[in-house]
Amino acid sequence: MRVAVVTGGGAGIGRAAVERLANDGELVVALDRDERALADLAEKAAGAGWTVRTRQVDIADDDAVERFATELATEFESIDTLVCAAGIQRYGTVEETSMELFDEVIGVNLRGVFAACHFLMPLLRADGGGSVVVVSSNQAYASQARVAAYATTKGALLALVRSMAVDHAADGVRVNAVCPGSVDTPMLRWAADLFSDGRPADDVVAEWGRTHPLGRVARPAEIADAIAYLASPQASFVTGTDLVVDGGVMAALGVALPEPTGEN
Ligand SMILES: NC(=O)c1ccc[n+]([C@@H]2O[C@H](COP(=O)([O-])OP(=O)(O)OC[C@H]3O[C@@H](n4cnc5c(N)ncnc54)[C@H](O)[C@@H]3O)[C@@H](O)[C@H]2O)c1
Repeated sequence: MRVAVVTGGGAGIGRAAVERLANDGELVVALDRDERALADLAEKAAGAGWTVRTRQVDIADDDAVERFATELATEFESIDTLVCAAGIQRYGTVEETSMELFDEVIGVNLRGVFAACHFLMPLLRADGGGSVVVVSSNQAYASQARVAAYATTKGALLALVRSMAVDHAADGVRVNAVCPGSVDTPMLRWAADLFSDGRPADDVVAEWGRTHPLGRVARPAEIADAIAYLASPQASFVTGTDLVVDGGVMAALGVALPEPTGEN
């Protein structure tokens, strides 16, 4: 049975990845700092007959990640997949973002990914190789306003992915990123509430969806499909790349032509 570890597996994109991989017959270990989200996942997994284990781990806590890796190594000689989905969004320009807030975002989004890869790489390469999928963002390429810390981490993750892909290719470990546009998760709903100005969050999400050429935001399962592909043997020659799953946002220029008049 293939074994996968998913960080941020309690909710959103990580949760969708857990469900997708478990549904494909893999044993999935879901890490999250949110105990309630993990309990909810465990209940659903039991009902669905999935082989899912849950562990409460704060990915920003190096010691906790190392303890988890040590514990995992007592049970499994190797793992096949690591999905790094745990992440947080915080808003602010470089001037507005305190150094403490910057450290918080770096700690989870970048250091947390580094720690998971650092401590789990021995298990990924143990049986001739495995696959790492890092959830970055299309904000690695183009930025919204006031996401200085978040965009920093998402861009840095792509450099880390390429670096790990080069270093661990000889071990048979492939490393790739997915770069989603807006995805309907608790994180997006939190942001929609923040900017709703009294409007229903559904309206804000729909409005954000219209800025994507496909006319809507993604479902978490659509990102999980991309993650499952990159983690699978179907992607056996794919490493060091970033797969954009953003409904066409990065393909579109924000330049609108005038409406056709019949003369043009
Ligand atoms: N939702 C989007 O529109 C979107 C777009 C592009 C990229 N992303 C990225 O996708 C990833 C998942 O986002 P999401 O929208 O599913 O978020 P979410 O908040 O809905 O879910 C994230 C999960 O990660 C967990 N988590 C957060 N910090 C953690 C920590 N320190 N240790 C362990 N678990 C932690 C949370 O408890 C939660 O269960 C993030 O890296 C995010 O930046 C999201």
